[in-house]
Amino acid sequence: MMYDFRHILSTYDISRDQAEFIIQTAKEFEPYAKKEKSSDQLKGKVMASLFYEPSTRTRLSFETAMLRLGGSVISVTDPNTTSLFKGESWGDTANMMSQFADIIVIRHPEIGVAQKFAAVSKAPVINGGDGMSQHPTQALLDLYTIYKERGGIDGLTIAMSGDLKHGRTASSLAILLANYNVKFRFIAPKELAMKREVKDLLTAKNIQFEETENLEEGIVGVDIIYMTRIQKERFESIEEYEKFKGTYVLHRKLIEDKNPDVIVMHPLPRIDEIHPDVDDLPNAAYFRQAGNGVTVRMALLSMILGA
Ligand code: NCD
Repeated sequence: MMYDFRHILSTYDISRDQAEFIIQTAKEFEPYAKKEKSSDQLKGKVMASLFYEPSTRTRLSFETAMLRLGGSVISVTDPNTTSLFKGESWGDTANMMSQFADIIVIRHPEIGVAQKFAAVSKAPVINGGDGMSQHPTQALLDLYTIYKERGGIDGLTIAMSGDLKHGRTASSLAILLANYNVKFRFIAPKELAMKREVKDLLTAKNIQFEETENLEEGIVGVDIIYMTRIQKERFESIEEYEKFKGTYVLHRKLIEDKNPDVIVMHPLPRIDEIHPDVDDLPNAAYFRQAGNGVTVRMALLSMILGA
């Protein structure tokens, strides 16, 4: 089975069949990501990584994935050094970049930039995060992590906690998981509740979800708890942010008392929402999750660019 993945812009565009195909392909890339095998499948191909917003994991795991497949990377990490800063339009940047590179990964604080880029680009475009909206490859590596940690997706109850209003990872993942037979529990302060459009999608698909402001209650009985940070950079003021900072902190004792079997995920970076005393528990999957980023991104690059 092959799928024509030209761009990867949003989890709204990814079907269950496509997600399953990506999971299967990622499995095949495990030995390459673990450095047990090497490949030069993408020799001669160039990936442009254009990051107009801070990133550690997404950019470096994409670049690692490309290099491990024998490809090369060109990157912009400081937008002030590019002509966009001089006033060059998105269209012109996209047109030109896509003549240089075989594939473009872009992250930008503004919603919809990856779509605009894809509309003019001659090369495939991957959305590495557009503001508060989408982060589809994170959702795919999160799905792959759930699959690996739990052995499947159907039948699971997934809790998501933290800043569900501004965060793009939890909502992107919820949209992707809506293709499966799952249940959700959203744990957030009222002001930072899960996005309306996501809840509307779940309702339309007859997928059950509950909302609570309480982490101690919210963690009981779920298979996965997906923690997120309060998205400091999306608040109007630092005072607004500080109202919510430290709202939820997951401790080892809470896991041991309330749900000793729960799998703990986090897209990272973590600020204070998971206490370091959780790190040594087998439940802590967040560093394994980050490692899965390279595997899944190798699979995606290979699917899009491979012969
Ligand atoms: C996330 C992001 O950029 O949205 N980070 C990531 O890509 N792993 C999560 C976050 O910044 O909170």
